[in-house]
Amino acid sequence: MKLDGVGRLHQQVYRALLGEILGGRLTAGERVPSTRDVATLLKVSRNTALLAYEQLLAEGFIIPRSGAAGTVVAAVLPPDGYVARPITRPGVARPGRLSAAPTLAAVGDRFVKSARACARELGLPSLTWELAPPTIRYDFRPGRASFGDLPYALWRRLLNARARDARVIDLEYGPPGGRRELREAISARLRRLRGLDADPDNIVIVNGTQQALDLICRVLVNPGDRVLMEEPHYTGARCAFMAAGVELVFSPVDDHGMRVPRTGKGRRPFRLAYVTPSHQFPTGAVLSMERRLRLIAWAAREGAFIVEDDYDGEYRYDGPPLQALTGMDRAGCAIYVGTFSKILFPALRLGYLVLPTPLVEPIVATKAIADTGTSALVQLALADFIAEGHFDRHLRRTTASNAARRHALTAAIDGVFGDRATVTGASAGLHLLMWLKGRRGGVIRDVHERAERAGVGLFTVDPFYATPPEKTGILLGFAPLMPADIREGIRRLAGALK
Ligand SMILES: Cc1ncc(COP(=O)(O)O)c(C=O)c1O
Repeated sequence: MKLDGVGRLHQQVYRALLGEILGGRLTAGERVPSTRDVATLLKVSRNTALLAYEQLLAEGFIIPRSGAAGTVVAAVLPPDGYVARPITRPGVARPGRLSAAPTLAAVGDRFVKSARACARELGLPSLTWELAPPTIRYDFRPGRASFGDLPYALWRRLLNARARDARVIDLEYGPPGGRRELREAISARLRRLRGLDADPDNIVIVNGTQQALDLICRVLVNPGDRVLMEEPHYTGARCAFMAAGVELVFSPVDDHGMRVPRTGKGRRPFRLAYVTPSHQFPTGAVLSMERRLRLIAWAAREGAFIVEDDYDGEYRYDGPPLQALTGMDRAGCAIYVGTFSKILFPALRLGYLVLPTPLVEPIVATKAIADTGTSALVQLALADFIAEGHFDRHLRRTTASNAARRHALTAAIDGVFGDRATVTGASAGLHLLMWLKGRRGGVIRDVHERAERAGVGLFTVDPFYATPPEKTGILLGFAPLMPADIREGIRRLAGALK
């Protein structure tokens, strides 16, 4: 019997004894060496040996016998394949017999394959949204808000107050569809600012857009169903639909947003369309009013649902935010998805769905089974943040600072590239798309490297296409950068592209 040198001493003793039992060297009914003997043999204190015994007793591997019989090995051992408590030191193999890759269920297999495929498209080793803090000064990574603008001290105070004053009900399991306080605060905002008459009972709180998409897929689509997506498109959504095993049909995006397909005779109808109407990801196009109406009519004809992902449409610079498409739907086919990732920060993992009434129960039931509900204290702090007016104030302030950064960016592009570049999607959101004239498409590796050497983070649009375009498009996120850095970054970018 030997210690394996990994983790705390009493855990090592526990594993050494467990190894004797599972290895058959100590058999059922046999007396276990005394804690004193074990302590002497393994050169540990008696207390350490006692702790290991207590764990084996608690887990039922050994049982106390009265009198001189002492402690013996239990007659009924766990079945084959029992995995002993994991060893905590990284890089050390864990004991247990399940070492070969298991055969996955069809769903698990699709999830793994979809995640791998999407990661490959994004040039990542595995699927993650995790970002290393930028080490590059002029980092034009799209879609990031400016953390420097966050009223973080205020957020911390609200979170603290909710934790300090928590009632028992706040510490219990909450309603799977989300706390009423937050649903009411969101409802009031949507009514005022997005033209969406959303009853709090039709709102479901989720862990970000990604969970919203997963729940929608589980509830509404079967493998093989047809789903319409924009081309180019948001990879997070594509990945969720791939994992659901649907047939994806891409429709091109132009200056007026996604083209609405005709309803063809004899074709299998679509089940769902996923769109980003307020600021198409990644082109930034705004879905025109005519196309909004056509899309709603199309969905009614197809018997399809529309999923409206409104991830950053609240940032609008040339006028008030556009009404949500869902607000125009009278047929009950539109589902609105909102997130706090862009206006606050993505680590919140908070978003919401506005659902047609018949979908509320299925989505809430699925959420209840998936995770029982989203963290209550964070929901309550966010409800306070919205109800006390901080959210709107923060949005007003950041809209002004983002507008100045966007202006610096468009002016710099104009000054440096002139008519060699055209810009789309600058009227809203946190990024725009710059198309370079006369350049063949493709992820131009040497340009990426040259840009990086010049201190510029360069992100081409290609990974967001199913079929990459012939021309070169560069996504430029501007929210976290100061205007002077934006100007310098664009100057350096032009140098790297020469
Ligand atoms: C189109 C789109 N939708 C949604 C999100 C946000 O997702 P989540 O709410 O899961 O953070 C992003 C983030 O980049 C996005 O680009």
